[in-house]
Amino acid sequence: MKRLAPQLSTHLGLLYGTDCFNLFSALKEESIHCVFADPPFNLGKDYGRGAMKDALEKRDYLKWSFAWLDECVRLLTPGGALFVYILPQWGYHLASHIEERGMLFRHWIALSMKGTFPRGRKLYPAHYTLLYFTKGEPRVFNHVRLPVPVCRHCGKDVKDYGGHRKYLNPLGLNLTDFWDDTSPARHQKFKARWHINELKPMIPSRCIQVATNEGDIVLDPFGGGGSTYEAAEGLKRHWLGTEIATSAAIRDRFRRHVPDLKPASPVTLQRVFKRPDPKFTLVVP
Ligand SMILES: C[S@@+](CC[C@H](N)C(=O)[O-])C[C@H]1O[C@@H](n2cnc3c(N)ncnc32)[C@H](O)[C@@H]1O
Repeated sequence: MKRLAPQLSTHLGLLYGTDCFNLFSALKEESIHCVFADPPFNLGKDYGRGAMKDALEKRDYLKWSFAWLDECVRLLTPGGALFVYILPQWGYHLASHIEERGMLFRHWIALSMKGTFPRGRKLYPAHYTLLYFTKGEPRVFNHVRLPVPVCRHCGKDVKDYGGHRKYLNPLGLNLTDFWDDTSPARHQKFKARWHINELKPMIPSRCIQVATNEGDIVLDPFGGGGSTYEAAEGLKRHWLGTEIATSAAIRDRFRRHVPDLKPASPVTLQRVFKRPDPKFTLVVP
């Protein structure tokens, strides 16, 4: 048995450095308002523990995926939201499993993917999947609006809106289920950790804005470079997470982006742990 202290704490969030199943088992059921998960895609990437960990037989990858999804469903409050960022080839398996677990399908959001190339006898892959489910009817659904897109050269609207431009909401366009402004930052200077597939914080940020209010609790079990935690912190949501490999990049991201970063003990998060402990240590096998 080991006791694990958080690797990073703020007055809103806590990050651990352990397998997500260790964190899940420390948490109470129906205690989390929103889960955002961007798991390994089983593409043989080396996340710091050897590429083989991300190159499982299809059956084993799905078994592992279903196990962490079941934990997320257990942890969500009634009406809580689950977002899973995944490749379409896995997305339809995961969606079907999540629905079987009693969750309500809300959207299959397509995120445009640029900079890839077709492999073999396949179409050119042009989107990622973002699954959105809720545990029953959503407890929160906020309308997110986006600025009207303009040409970066001439500054004029990209579309003509069929002569109805003046009727557009001045706050912007309604978010749709097709996001074409979310391609990953490929240049090293925009990424906290080059070898992981780090998302633009805009992706988790939109999900958090849609499905939670200030003070709610967001869980991301696959920390990576910490885009979800940065988004949640900026939106004044509580957040919880873990990263099995090094979390140095997440700490570095917070040092760069969060002013007045100090270790803290977020009191609200006490109530999500089965055995509340002021130091938030996790007991893991
Ligand atoms: C695709 S990345 C997440 C990227 C993250 N969304 C971001 O934008 O920075 C997946 C991460 O999950 C981590 N991981 C893999 N298996 C894990 C597990 N069982 N528990 C916790 N983290 C895990 C990997 O080390 C990797 O950093």
